[in-house]
Amino acid sequence: MSDTPSSSGMISALLQEERRFPPPPALAATANGKADLYERAAKDPLAFWAEMAGGIDWATPFTKVLDWNVPWAKWFVGGTLNASVSCVDRHALGARRNKAALIWEGEPHVAGNLGGETRVLTYGDLYREVNRAAHAIRALGIEKGDRVAIYMPMVPEAAIAMLACARLGAAHTVIFGGFAPEAIRDRVNDSGAKLVITADGGYRRGNVIPLYDNVAKAVEGTPGVTHVLVLRRVGESVRPVTLTPGRDVWWHDALDAAPPTPLEPVMVDAEHPLYILYTSGTTGKPKGMLHTTGGYLVGTMASAKYVFDLKDDDVFWCTADVGWVTGHSYLVYGPLANGATCVMYEGAPDWPDKDRFWQIIAKYRVSILYTAPTAIRSFMRFGTDYPKRHDMSALRLLGTVGEPINPEAWIWYHENIGGGRCPIVDTWWQTETGMILITPLPGVTTTRPGSATFAFPGIDADVVDESGQSVPLGSGGYLVLRRPWPAMARTLWGDDERFQQTYWSRFPGLYFTGDGARRDEDGYIWLLGRVDDVLNVAGHRIGTMEVESALVSHPSVAEAAVIGVAHEIKGQALAAFVTPRFGITPDDALADTLKKHVATTIGAIARPDQIYFTAELPKTRSAKIMRRLLRDIAEGRVLGDTTTLTDPAVVADIRERYDHSEA
Ligand code: PRX
Repeated sequence: MSDTPSSSGMISALLQEERRFPPPPALAATANGKADLYERAAKDPLAFWAEMAGGIDWATPFTKVLDWNVPWAKWFVGGTLNASVSCVDRHALGARRNKAALIWEGEPHVAGNLGGETRVLTYGDLYREVNRAAHAIRALGIEKGDRVAIYMPMVPEAAIAMLACARLGAAHTVIFGGFAPEAIRDRVNDSGAKLVITADGGYRRGNVIPLYDNVAKAVEGTPGVTHVLVLRRVGESVRPVTLTPGRDVWWHDALDAAPPTPLEPVMVDAEHPLYILYTSGTTGKPKGMLHTTGGYLVGTMASAKYVFDLKDDDVFWCTADVGWVTGHSYLVYGPLANGATCVMYEGAPDWPDKDRFWQIIAKYRVSILYTAPTAIRSFMRFGTDYPKRHDMSALRLLGTVGEPINPEAWIWYHENIGGGRCPIVDTWWQTETGMILITPLPGVTTTRPGSATFAFPGIDADVVDESGQSVPLGSGGYLVLRRPWPAMARTLWGDDERFQQTYWSRFPGLYFTGDGARRDEDGYIWLLGRVDDVLNVAGHRIGTMEVESALVSHPSVAEAAVIGVAHEIKGQALAAFVTPRFGITPDDALADTLKKHVATTIGAIARPDQIYFTAELPKTRSAKIMRRLLRDIAEGRVLGDTTTLTDPAVVADIRERYDHSEA
């Protein structure tokens, strides 16, 4: 655990930080009926989840809450439903029909509009559009059980496409718009998608992302794809695209051809696939996490309701991209299942200026903001003048997700964004968990800056030692989950064995998260970062092996090792140690080429900040790369024990060239 780069810094910061924030009295008053959730759920978790399942619409009621045969879970056995009914129909056909479901803001500023282009879709609008899209997608040959890839900008049509797939019983696999053609191709092929939904482009920090062009390149290598459905977002004058006849269809043409009547939702079994979402692991191949319909919807609906204390008049803004699990669970399924109003923003937080988020919060009177610590740390650096320019008095609750938040950033967020009055929910979860699992409940939990506090009701989180035994309060270990939960991933798409191996074999019978954690004397949980070769760069999960594979796919590279180094804003940054092939002379130009090569193979999020060339990589006698040593070198620390190295001279050589330490 001493290997976890973020842990030592976090802990020393925490030790200095003794502040505690009890819920404000007003919130505590509204928390009535919630405080006893923990008790009820602990007493009878299955009865608790059955009660939560009452919050979504079922076509056929389930007959059993859980069928559990480690690690295979079936939740809400016998139940049938359609996720789009709970997220859209029941609001659109009821009292919320004219309530805003999605408030969308485009990135480019529009004169006279206090920011960007605005589109508001009421639940009635969303119902109409989801139905039209479902008709259009079905007309392209998609049926229950098929897969559809979605590679879209942050526009309402991304959510519409997801819900339309769900309506047909087809699983979507959303691919983050920052991924490169090769990464798209791998995901499309692995999932077996027949259709790809994309757009001509999307705006990001003033640039246009060439989404269609990336898809066009990717589908050259995807024999299973029969059609590409293309939304016109930026327009012909900004990004002309030439569709391939027979394969590509414009979104507007396809939807205009749809019949005006609703498409009867396809009722599916509770365990029918809702989506596959790829995430990084410890091998070079991303893992397709499979989420199913009933349990996922119950988990995201219940957690959105209680963690964000959602009320009918809230304006909820989750800033995550739909390409990540946070966008799936808390921009689309969770809040919509609650009938909430969600803000969706297309672009970058600092475009055209560094107060864009605060401008959006003021413009739509956002009451709940859910964002990542990396964003908060960037805002801290921009200074307090930017938030001060805007009226953010509607905010009542703040959330963070994706990475540990350092107490300093927590307090800055609390004071400068929340005006000292908004509780902060630091929520821990993963693509695999589908829903928030460790979090305070606003109005109930006394928070401590930097701690995600306690497990959500019904969740049994524990910190264990190497042998799987709970560690005493006040100590650290591995974070595990002792009981199944409804929104858990059911398997890895097409690879049951890897699922079992990765998550359920380290500690038999327990789910291993891959995270280190510590529990303080009062039982508060403090996340310490990953204990495996998965990095968290600016809240994005990146596997070291993926980046290493991309590097060695370049003809100049013989071998590469990638590590995470502490970074003030991003939490971690990528550094790569590269051994060039024989006869290649390493120089700055090659370093730049390799950085670009990674960006065009995976995506810009995986581009290393630093490349160090070395004649050899330091390895143990069993041929394992000594990453700890590389981290020490990259972070300029005095080197630790090198006695197990095959050739200590290797380190001396790297050090000579790159040593930044005082030692
Ligand atoms: O290391 C943990 C970190 O993010 C990982 C999961 O990444 P991903 O599947 O991409 O999902 C991110 C959004 C849910 C975890 O294993 N992580 C997530 N939330 C927190 C966190 N680390 C500390 N504190 C958190 N609140």
